[in-house]
Amino acid sequence: VLQVTLASLLLGTGYISYSLYRESHPKAQQPQTETFPDGRPRKTLVILGSGWGSVSLLKSLDTTLYNVIVISPRNYFLFTPFLPSTPVGTVDLKSIVEPMRSIVRRSQGEVKYVEAEATDIDPITKEIKIEENHGEIKTSLKYDYLVVAVGSQPTTFGIPGVKEHSSFLKEVSDAKKIREKILENLELASNLSEDDPKRKRLLSFVVVGGGPTGVEFAAELKDYVDQDLTKWMPKLSKEIRVTLVEGTPNILGSFDKKLIKYAEDTFNEEHIDLQLRTRVKSVNCENVQALNPNGELIDIPYGVLVWATGNAPREVTKNLMSKLEEQTSRRGLLIDEKLRLLGAENSIYAIGDCTFYPGLFPTAQVAHQEAEYLSRVFKKLNKIDQLEWQVQKTKANENITEKDTKTLDKNIDKLPTKIENFKYNHLGALAYIGAEKAVADLSMFGTSKQYLTGSFTFLFYKSAYLAMCLSFRNRILVTLDWAKVYFFGRDSSV
Ligand code: FAD
Ligand code: NAI
Repeated sequence: VLQVTLASLLLGTGYISYSLYRESHPKAQQPQTETFPDGRPRKTLVILGSGWGSVSLLKSLDTTLYNVIVISPRNYFLFTPFLPSTPVGTVDLKSIVEPMRSIVRRSQGEVKYVEAEATDIDPITKEIKIEENHGEIKTSLKYDYLVVAVGSQPTTFGIPGVKEHSSFLKEVSDAKKIREKILENLELASNLSEDDPKRKRLLSFVVVGGGPTGVEFAAELKDYVDQDLTKWMPKLSKEIRVTLVEGTPNILGSFDKKLIKYAEDTFNEEHIDLQLRTRVKSVNCENVQALNPNGELIDIPYGVLVWATGNAPREVTKNLMSKLEEQTSRRGLLIDEKLRLLGAENSIYAIGDCTFYPGLFPTAQVAHQEAEYLSRVFKKLNKIDQLEWQVQKTKANENITEKDTKTLDKNIDKLPTKIENFKYNHLGALAYIGAEKAVADLSMFGTSKQYLTGSFTFLFYKSAYLAMCLSFRNRILVTLDWAKVYFFGRDSSV
């Protein structure tokens, strides 16, 4: 037993050291060039975004086949599944980001990264306008193929006061803002007398939207109060109220009924105030005004307000939609079964949250699978380009007969149909619901379903997402964060 344990430890340490060394010592890259060795022009593939779609594409794409340029205002990848854990310090923000520079440097062929925002896409001239340094530098660039993976922005449904008074939970800056607000409110409240109504309001933490984002964040918040603040601020922690407001009759609407019931029961046991069938109508600096199940307008006072009611298209996406008459949906870019943008099928592909395709939800899982599919498409497109180039060269040969030309044309016509349609393979959904419990809606072998709940599911949730982290560095950092919380509790400083 000792020998086996020692051997496993040695092997494990060796594997970790090798993986870390490989990540931090990238190999030399094949540089970008105008042409391939046979004289064929190398096409330019522009990828917009540095999120799940773009980075998954970069990881699976053969970057030696194109001049790849990535444009994104965010110079890092963010592992969103652990974002709800960060405002309360269960996981550190630095542990779930990966710099774009290290991602692009690790690909086989050189990839250029430009920290800029795409503001305008012209599908006719195949030109993109970009703005660097918050609009200070404006330039444009041409593409042969474009992949739009700009994600989405939080929706407010135009509800008055939301933008001014609430925090979203989408980006690193949002998580930082929520953290600062929570810590500030705790200190402010502790300086007020117990009967001061302001103290009660400051300690009212309200989350609007009972989708996975709202549920996971409310759960993390309650864990923080129950597991840490009870030790450091015992009296104050008892006065903190976590409220989750949801417009429909249930939270986690996309999950199975059994899992919804389990999650709602857990929330009730944990004393998270669930306000179901309660639709927010407006927000001011102290209260959320909502229509309750009896049709009455009620005030819910808040000290911290987190808004998580889903996604809306970004400006650049709306701009692109307005240019193509085939783009008739307001929910996102319409694509075909090969992920080609309707109206610009020959050159633009769109993946992830910026798209709308019936049956595909805006999740990392979908964006990742779409990206892997596109990497195969681009391999085939390169092959087609190569054959077309060879045909052109053959046709330029004076001795070629008309019959030969027709045969070549026929072969070319057949090629694009060889690209198979995208097929989404739903592996399931997981959500953390607090008190070290999670729910899992797993698809087994394509059709049969498996529903898991409880603490074992929480371990499964943790290991599944840990395995999905982008780099080995991220995996180690997240594991260390969990260990830190286990031994010392969550950090309560900004
Ligand atoms: P994103 O990952 O959002 O990336 C978009 C990128 O485009 C960003 O880098 C952005 O900076 C960039 N960009 C924006 N505007 C421009 C522009 N004008 N020009 C160029 N670039 C631009 N899904 C799951 O499957 N499992 C989960 O557990 C899960 N947890 C989540 C938790 C939270 C808190 C959130 C908010 C989402 C979660 N999701 C989860 C959903 C998942 O994160 C998204 O579906 C996924 O990020 C979509 O990938 P994307 O590439 O389309 O967009
Ligand atoms: P969502 O769209 O899934 O849920 C938003 C919720 O807000 C809905 O339940 C809706 O009824 C509610 N709502 C809307 N307007 C309201 C109002 N005025 N008042 C009260 N309630 C209102 O959005 P979410 O949670 O941000 O998720 C976005 C996407 O990211 C989803 O596809 C989700 O599956 C994915 N995601 C997945 C996670 C996971 O798998 N663990 C975690 C987080 C997000």
